[in-house]
Amino acid sequence: MSEMKIIAPAVHGWRGEPVIPGDKSMSHRSVMLAGLGSTPVHIKNFLHAADCLSTVGVMRALGVRVEFPADGELVVTGRGLHGLSEPASVLDAGNSGTTLRLMMGLLAPQPFFLTFTGDASLSRRPMGRVLLPLGQMGARIYGRNDNNNLPLSIVPAGKKLCGISYDSPVASAQVKSAILLAGLYTDAPTSVTEPFVSRDHTERMLAGFGVRVEREGCTARVYPVTREEDYIAPEEITVPGDISSAAYFLVGGSIIKGSRLLLKNVGINLTRTGILDVLAQMGAHIAVKNERTSGGEALADISVETAELHGVRVGAEIMPRLVDEIPILAAAALFAEGDTVITGAGELRVKETDRLRAIADEFGKMAPGSIEELEDGLIIRGKRPICKARVHSRGDHRMAMSLAVLGAAADGAEIEEPDSVQISYPAFFEQLDRLAGA
Ligand code: S3P
Repeated sequence: MSEMKIIAPAVHGWRGEPVIPGDKSMSHRSVMLAGLGSTPVHIKNFLHAADCLSTVGVMRALGVRVEFPADGELVVTGRGLHGLSEPASVLDAGNSGTTLRLMMGLLAPQPFFLTFTGDASLSRRPMGRVLLPLGQMGARIYGRNDNNNLPLSIVPAGKKLCGISYDSPVASAQVKSAILLAGLYTDAPTSVTEPFVSRDHTERMLAGFGVRVEREGCTARVYPVTREEDYIAPEEITVPGDISSAAYFLVGGSIIKGSRLLLKNVGINLTRTGILDVLAQMGAHIAVKNERTSGGEALADISVETAELHGVRVGAEIMPRLVDEIPILAAAALFAEGDTVITGAGELRVKETDRLRAIADEFGKMAPGSIEELEDGLIIRGKRPICKARVHSRGDHRMAMSLAVLGAAADGAEIEEPDSVQISYPAFFEQLDRLAGA
């Protein structure tokens, strides 16, 4: 892709049915869990994007067979729960926090040595949040410097890990999942309690593999799999569309005049649908239709039409269900009547980039004076002038897509480093161009 993407104002509105790619979180987990089985798993609507391909690369390096029979399809054949093999070289998690953190949980119990690396962004992100609980289970993981940054090495623990009850200070699905995955191999059940429930795809998918998982309030508990034959890989997993990718169209369709969109097969797991709740509160015209379940996950078709939005307040309770959608919510807030106040969002500072700073600075170039950065959030003043500007994605896929939607809704934008969309939605700009031309 080019160094810069020029976004034109969508003067005729967005109409049509943009294709929503497979869910990123579920795609990662499907390859990991299938790779621990011993029979082939056919994964449909897999997200063929850089982040999930990092997970594929790591699983392959551990001896798991991964084939791509067709576009968006994957066949993963593992060698059993205890069949992963020592990688011959360093494992590369790329830009993917999910790959690194979940795989640390999966690999800490294995009887071999390995080292992880990743890109510059991942190398800055905190890993202590995973090292600490895994260490309590008996894992031996060593990172660079006091922050335990990448590169990170895992040394065989030398004994079975022990089950723990962990009280997590953060509501993070990556932390929770790392602990639960290590819990497959422990001497006793392992539970994680979070301040608010984070996305629960790991728990649901593990249950689909026959693993005993219990949930109560903010606690999830997994029982170790003591007999290989109790881990039963399903023949097929179909990944729903990613609501975090649909969010760009939910907001664009709401704020671009004359829009009407239909988004099909979108995952609507309650731990992910904060954006639907917040947009509804803002006055959006969104309808969720044809609700159904597949493989233990809820999905639906969602329609959206242009609406007059008004500002809202969002806080810590909803954040785990909304965490990846704050950049696109900022675009919605700039078009809303009144102020939008976002608090309890400190986790955004440790994402692919410091997203609170990035939103304040980059959105601020198009909407000068409209965004105030708080320590753990943002205040966004709506309906102020928005101008065309040259903005930077900061290598963050969600920034690139959110800035593009804002540009399309306003006077256009020039986005530097647009290629970051490869991380979760490689066809994003193609979809945008198609909608604009429709
Ligand atoms: C993810 C969990 C979230 C989210 C990320 C994907 C996952 O991260 O932001 O995009 O798949 O488990 P945290 O666990 O750090 O909140």
